[in-house]
Amino acid sequence: MASYAISVMEGDGVGKEVTRSALEILGSVSSASGVSLDFTPAPAGDAVLAGTGEALPQQSLSVIRGSDACLKGPVGETAAAVIVKLRQVLDLYANIRPAKSMPGVPCLRPDIDFVIVRENTEDLYRGLEFEVADGVVAMRVTTTKACARIADRAFRLAMGRKAKKVVAVHKANVMRKSCGLFSSACREAAARYPAVSFSEMYVDAAAMNLIRSPESFDVIVTTNMFGDILSDEAAQLVGGLGIAPSANLGDKFAIFEPVHGSAPDIAGKGIANPVGISLSACMMLEWLGESREDRKCGDAASALRAAIERAVQKGAKTPDLGGSLTTEKMTREIVAELRR
Ligand code: IPM
Ligand code: MN
Repeated sequence: MASYAISVMEGDGVGKEVTRSALEILGSVSSASGVSLDFTPAPAGDAVLAGTGEALPQQSLSVIRGSDACLKGPVGETAAAVIVKLRQVLDLYANIRPAKSMPGVPCLRPDIDFVIVRENTEDLYRGLEFEVADGVVAMRVTTTKACARIADRAFRLAMGRKAKKVVAVHKANVMRKSCGLFSSACREAAARYPAVSFSEMYVDAAAMNLIRSPESFDVIVTTNMFGDILSDEAAQLVGGLGIAPSANLGDKFAIFEPVHGSAPDIAGKGIANPVGISLSACMMLEWLGESREDRKCGDAASALRAAIERAVQKGAKTPDLGGSLTTEKMTREIVAELRR
């Protein structure tokens, strides 16, 4: 029986609560499906910095590198030193952020179903900021390689979807060279995928159109910072950050995490929504299933997704979704659906 080594970073704030929930749910998925998951902690974040002097200790990085995949909770103030660094060091160049309406969750429209494919290794996220005589200069890095591979990733993803539409979101009217390079790479990819319809949109217009007609989007491919901003907007369209999952994909390794942050305002209260991290765990099982050609793992992912959806549709909700369940009770509802 295949067994997967999963590194687990619980992170800060609500991270501990939602990660515990995800592990409980995965434990139940594992016994129901026969997919064996072996969890190893990879501590990192604010608390680890306070305790060890390092936000991302070498030991944790080794655990992550040695695993098949990583499941990660949100990190607080040290996020740049942890997740932004991991994305770059492990070359996890594609950040996949689906936005899909969920029956039972109040959302802007019932028929939203799109995915943001966010470049994940460069742009302003390289953190190249320099003090100069009269202020600060920040460098935006855009390479041909990163543009080409994120564009290709978006078209490949679109090929597997019904609508097969890619829109490249940028601001090439102002950032003529950097966004210009991104736009050309997307056009070149478009020429290689004639079955996919392709268009381009400036990021300001995209921000507006996401509210005006979110159902018209299928795959959005964009640069790192724009993708960060638009993915929070996208999450809100379908019910909020509490339910938004994401995958940081490289060619051979991937980290899965909820889109939400450490939420210090509700940390420790036991009311954080475990759906965001659980759907991320679901993406992890899907990715393992595909990359390891493990049918059982793919089936386990489908069963988990269905259980989460059924629980929510039956009214199991934490306060962020207008319900009154605690994280623990919500977890129990999902586990109960898994056993059904
Ligand atoms: C995200 C987060 C991170 C980002 C932060 C925590 C550094 O907002 O994953 O979207 O900006 O990428
Ligand atoms: Mn973000």
